[in-house]
Amino acid sequence: MKTIQARFISISGNTRSFMDSLVDYAKQQNANDPNLPLFKPVEISDVTDLAEEPDPYFAFVPTYLNGGNGIDNGVKELMTNSLGEYIGYGDNHTKCLGIIGSGNKNFNEQYCLTAKRYAHDYGFPYLNNYELRGNSADVERIYNSMVNRIKAVQDE
Ligand SMILES: Cc1cc2nc3c(=O)[nH]c(=O)nc-3n(C[C@H](O)[C@H](O)[C@H](O)COP(=O)(O)O)c2cc1C
Repeated sequence: MKTIQARFISISGNTRSFMDSLVDYAKQQNANDPNLPLFKPVEISDVTDLAEEPDPYFAFVPTYLNGGNGIDNGVKELMTNSLGEYIGYGDNHTKCLGIIGSGNKNFNEQYCLTAKRYAHDYGFPYLNNYELRGNSADVERIYNSMVNRIKAVQDE
């Protein structure tokens, strides 16, 4: 496992900032132990051309929803749809090892609901979550959860 690949979308910059923290953390881990993988995130946006993913990756999605709680009534996804389309393109959903959601706990039932809905709709694990830009404990926990997920898939 040399690198962890990721695809993410970020509207106001929080997810992008968390990606930078994960890149830095992975570099430190790899410097101490070269067996530990680097982290390579690629941003997806409205201008990204749809393409088939050749290799396994993790997806990171913040939550932007309008109305509803997804349980008793519907929700409308805003802003992040291009990542959903990218994951839905060709066989891309089969290459996704898991999704990490972010959001704000003030949204209660809607907290990280987009990641949960993608996991449900596309059939990959909802791996983890963090709030806003995350903190150092989130970075460590989520890095480890990705390393463990890759090991589990390799052992299958
Ligand atoms: C209009 C709007 C709607 C949002 N809706 C939700 C929501 O339904 N659930 C949630 O957990 N967070 C919600 N959030 C919080 C964002 O997901 C959170 O700020 C996230 O860190 C944004 O990531 P980004 O800066 O990478 O775009 C919303 C934020 C805005 C501005």
